[in-house]
Amino acid sequence: MRLAIGMQFLLSAAAAVDLAKYALTDTGSTKGGNTFPGVSRPLGMVKLGPDLYTGSDSYSGYQPTGDFVGFTMLHESGTGGAPKYGVVSQMPIVGQIQNPLSNAMNDTRAAPDFTEVGYYKSSLASGTVVELAASSKAGMCKYTFPKSDKNPNVLVDVSHVLPSFRGMGLEQHYLGGNITVHEKSGYYYYMGHGTYDNGWNRAGPWTVYFCGNFDAAATYKTFLGVDKTSDKLAEFSTKPSYQSDSARLGAVFTFNQTSVVSRVGVSFISATQACSNVDAEIPATSTLSKVRQDTRDAWNTQVFSKVTTTETNTTKLHQLYSALYFMHLLPTNKTGENPLWKSNEPYYDDIFTFWDTYRCTTALLHILQPSYYEELLRSMIDIWRHEGWVSDARSSFANGAVQGGSNGDNVFADAFTKGVRGKVNWTDAFDSMVKNAEVVPQNNNDPRDPTGSTKEGRSALPDWLEHGFITTKFSRSVSRAIEYSVNDFSLAVVAAGLNRSADFQKYFKRSHNWRNQWNPKLTALGFSGFLGPRDSKGFLNQDPLSCGGCYWRDNYYQALPWEYSFNAHHDMAHLIQLMGGPARFTERLEMTFKPGIPQGYAQYGGTLFNPGNEPSFTTPYLYNYVNRQDLAVRRSRSVAKSYYAPKPDGLPGNSDAGAMESWLLWNMIGLYPMTGQPTFLIGSPWFSDMSIDLGGGKKLHVKSTGGSEEKFYVQSLKVNGQSWKKSWLSWYDVFDKGGTLEFVLGSQPKNWTTGSVPPSLASQTSARASSMAGEWPKGKM
Ligand SMILES: *[C@@H]1O[C@H](CO)[C@@H](O)[C@H](O)[C@H]1NC(C)=O
Ligand SMILES: *[C@@H]1O[C@H](CO)[C@@H](O)[C@H](O)[C@H]1NC(C)=O
Ligand SMILES: *[C@@H]1O[C@H](CO)[C@@H](O)[C@H](O)[C@H]1NC(C)=O
Ligand SMILES: *[C@@H]1O[C@H](CO)[C@@H](O)[C@H](O)[C@H]1NC(C)=O
Ligand SMILES: *[C@@H]1O[C@H](CO)[C@@H](O)[C@H](O)[C@H]1NC(C)=O
Ligand SMILES: *[C@@H]1O[C@H](CO)[C@@H](O)[C@H](O)[C@H]1NC(C)=O
Ligand SMILES: *[C@@H]1O[C@H](CO)[C@@H](O)[C@H](O)[C@H]1NC(C)=O
Ligand SMILES: *[C@@H]1O[C@H](CO)[C@@H](O)[C@H](O)[C@H]1NC(C)=O
Repeated sequence: MRLAIGMQFLLSAAAAVDLAKYALTDTGSTKGGNTFPGVSRPLGMVKLGPDLYTGSDSYSGYQPTGDFVGFTMLHESGTGGAPKYGVVSQMPIVGQIQNPLSNAMNDTRAAPDFTEVGYYKSSLASGTVVELAASSKAGMCKYTFPKSDKNPNVLVDVSHVLPSFRGMGLEQHYLGGNITVHEKSGYYYYMGHGTYDNGWNRAGPWTVYFCGNFDAAATYKTFLGVDKTSDKLAEFSTKPSYQSDSARLGAVFTFNQTSVVSRVGVSFISATQACSNVDAEIPATSTLSKVRQDTRDAWNTQVFSKVTTTETNTTKLHQLYSALYFMHLLPTNKTGENPLWKSNEPYYDDIFTFWDTYRCTTALLHILQPSYYEELLRSMIDIWRHEGWVSDARSSFANGAVQGGSNGDNVFADAFTKGVRGKVNWTDAFDSMVKNAEVVPQNNNDPRDPTGSTKEGRSALPDWLEHGFITTKFSRSVSRAIEYSVNDFSLAVVAAGLNRSADFQKYFKRSHNWRNQWNPKLTALGFSGFLGPRDSKGFLNQDPLSCGGCYWRDNYYQALPWEYSFNAHHDMAHLIQLMGGPARFTERLEMTFKPGIPQGYAQYGGTLFNPGNEPSFTTPYLYNYVNRQDLAVRRSRSVAKSYYAPKPDGLPGNSDAGAMESWLLWNMIGLYPMTGQPTFLIGSPWFSDMSIDLGGGKKLHVKSTGGSEEKFYVQSLKVNGQSWKKSWLSWYDVFDKGGTLEFVLGSQPKNWTTGSVPPSLASQTSARASSMAGEWPKGKM
C-alpha cells in the first residue's frame, strides 16, 4: 500500500516535468533551415505565425528580417521547393486605412520576435504587440495597440498568400473567395473562405474556410478589389458581405480600445465547421495564457515525456527536445477535415515528402508515436483507395513533387517487417505498392520535368520494366534507378511476409536492377565503379564528383554520383564487392569524409559528404557493414557535432519536415535505422542514461558509462544484459518488447564488433532471402 502511494507520487511528479522549456522553437529558422517558429500543437492543422516579406522566399512565413505583411493560420515547417500556405491572415494596422489592398499595409520590427513552445510574440515598429497561441484547428491573436489618437485596425485580407520568387511556375495564386461579417452580442465576427492553388506540390485549387471572432466592439468595412492580384479597390463599403470568383476581398475592423483578442477557427469542410472548431477548442472564455499552457502541456505529454534522460548539460537537452519538436510539426492531422471523401479512416496531409523522411523520421515516429504512425499508414492506404496512388508527397489534399522513387513503399515495408498490424489493411497496402511498381502515372506536365509525372507513382517505369535500368530519356535517371531498386525491395519483403511468393520473386529480382546502372569504368580519386547514366546502347561518360545541375532535369537529383553510389542499402554485400571488398570500401568511405577535395566538387567542410541532404544520411553508418563500427561513430559523431546546434542557424540544410532533426535524434540515441528492414546499426549514445517510452508499458533504456565529448568510441556493449559483438541489432531485440542497451565508451577506437555483419538480404539467393524476409515479421533474424 505504501509502495503504491509512493509510486503514484512519482508518476504525478513525472507528469509535471516541463521538458518544453528545453525546446528552442527558433532552431533552424534561418540560413535555409526554413523551420516554422510560430505556434502549433503536435501535428497541428493550424500553424499560426508571422509572414515576413523580404523579396525572397519565406518558406515557413518567418524571416529574421523584412516587413510583416500578415499573421496567418496555415504554414509548413522546413520545406524547400516553393512556399506553401500563409493563408487566413490578419494584419494589425494603426490609423486610418485608405486602401486595404495597398502594399503599405505592413509593419516592421521594433525588437526580435520571441518564441517558445505554444507562444509567439512580435513587437512591431508601430508600437503594436502581437501575441499568438494555437490549438489544433484554431488560433488566437492578442493585439496590444499603442495608446494613440489614431484608431487601431485588424485587416483581414482573404487574398493573402506567401509569395514565391523562384520562378518555375510554382508560386501560389489566390483564386477567389468570400467573406461575410456577422454580429453576435454586440461584437462582430466574420466567416468565409478562400481558394488557392500551387506551391511546392503544384496543387490544383483547394479551399480553406475560416471563422474569426473579436472580443471588442468595432466598426467595419468590407472591400472588394478589381482582380486577383492588383491593389486597386473596386469598393470599400459597409456591405456585410462580398464574394468573388477572382477579385481580392476582405474586411477591416476598427477598434476603440488598445487590447483586442481574436479567435480564428479554420476548416477544410465549411465555414460553419470552422466556427465549431474554434468554439470547441478556443471558446470565448479562453485566455491566451490558458491556450498557451494547454499547448505546452500537449507537447509535454504527447511528445517530450516520451524521451527522458538524467543528463544535465543544457546544450544537449536543447538539442534533444528541439529536434523532437521539429519532427512533430508535419505531417498534419486533418482527420475529420478531408473535403474529398467521407471515410472512417484517419486523414494526414502535408507530407513533405517521404523522399526526405523515410530514412530517419518515419522509423522514429514508429517508436515514439505508435498510434499516430498507424493512423498515418491507414491514411496513406485510404488515399490510395480513393485516388489510386500513395504519392511520395502531398499537401492541401493533392499529390505532387515526386523527387525520386515511390518511397511510401519503404515506409510500408518498414512497418510491415517490424510487425505493425493493428487496423492497417496490409492487402490494400501491398496493392498500393504494386500500383506504384507497375502503372505509369499520367504526365502532369510539370515544367521542371517534361519526361513524366511528378505528381505520383514512378514515371520512369517504362524503361525500368523494359530494360531493367533507366535511360537518360527520363530525367533523374540514375538517382531514380537506385531508388526504384530500394522500392522494389520493399515490395519483395512485404510480399514474402504475405506469402505472395510469385510477387516476392518478381520484385526481389527487380531490386537488383541498380546493378545494371553500375558502370565499373567510371573513376574518381583513385576509386572505380559508380552508378552511371546510360542509354539503351550502353553507358555514357560521367564525372562521379559532379551531378551537373543536380536538379529535376539532371541525371542525379540533389546529390553526387559519389553519394548515390553508396545507396544500395538493401544489397550492401554486393555493393561492397563491386567497390573492391571491405578494405577498399572502407577507404572509399574515408575519402567521403576527407577534407581538401578539389574546389567545385567539395560540399560541406571541403568534403564530398553533404550532411544537409538525405541521400547522404546513411553513409557515415555504412562502416558497420564491414565491422568498422569505430569509424561509423567517429564520422557520424563528427557530423552531428560540427553541423548541428540548437540555434536559429543550427541546421546544415532545410529541415525537410524534421528529417534533419530525426537524423540527429538517432545519433543521440546511438542507433541508426535501415528503413525497410528491421535492422538498426549501432552508433554511440550521447547520454549516460536515456529512456524511450515505446507505448504499452514498454521502454528502451540506453545507458552508457565512461562517455564525454571526447570519449565516444564504443568499448563494449551489452544488449538486454548479454555481451554483444555485432555492429547491429534488430527491432525484435530491443523495440518489440522493450530492452536495454549498456554501452561502455572511451577515448580510443576499439574493434569490438567481431560478430556477423548486418543482413544484406538482396545479396542472398532468392530462396534464402525469401525465407529470411518471411521470418522478419515473426521476430527472427
Ligand atoms: C511597406 O509599406 C511601405 C510604405 O508604408 C512601403 O514603402 C513598403 O514597400 C511596404 N513593404 C512591402 C513589403 O510591401
Ligand atoms: C460564401 O461561401 C460559402 C461556402 O462556399 C457559401 O456557403 C456562402 O453562401 C457564401 N456566402 C456568400 C455571401 O456568398
Ligand atoms: C469609437 O469612438 C468613436 C468616437 O468616440 C465613436 O464615434 C464610435 O462609435 C466608437 N466605435 C465603437 C465601435 O465603439
Ligand atoms: C555540453 O554539450 C555541448 C554540446 O555537445 C558541448 O559542446 C559542451 O562541451 C558540453 N558541456 C559540458 C560541460 O560537458
Ligand atoms: C488525429 O485527429 C483525430 C481527430 O481530431 C483524433 O481523433 C486523433 O486522435 C488524432 N491523432 C493523433 C495521433 O493525434
Ligand atoms: C482489406 O480491404 C479490402 C478492400 O479494400 C477488403 O476486401 C478486405 O477484407 C480488407 N481486409 C481486412 C483484413 O480488413
Ligand atoms: C503465411 O504462411 C504461414 C505458414 O504457411 C502462416 O503461418 C502465415 O499466417 C501466413 N501469413 C499470411 C499473412 O497469410
Ligand atoms: C581495427 O581493425 C582495422 C582493420 O583490421 C585496423 O586497421 C585498425 O587499426 C584496428 N583498430 C584498432 C583500434 O585496433
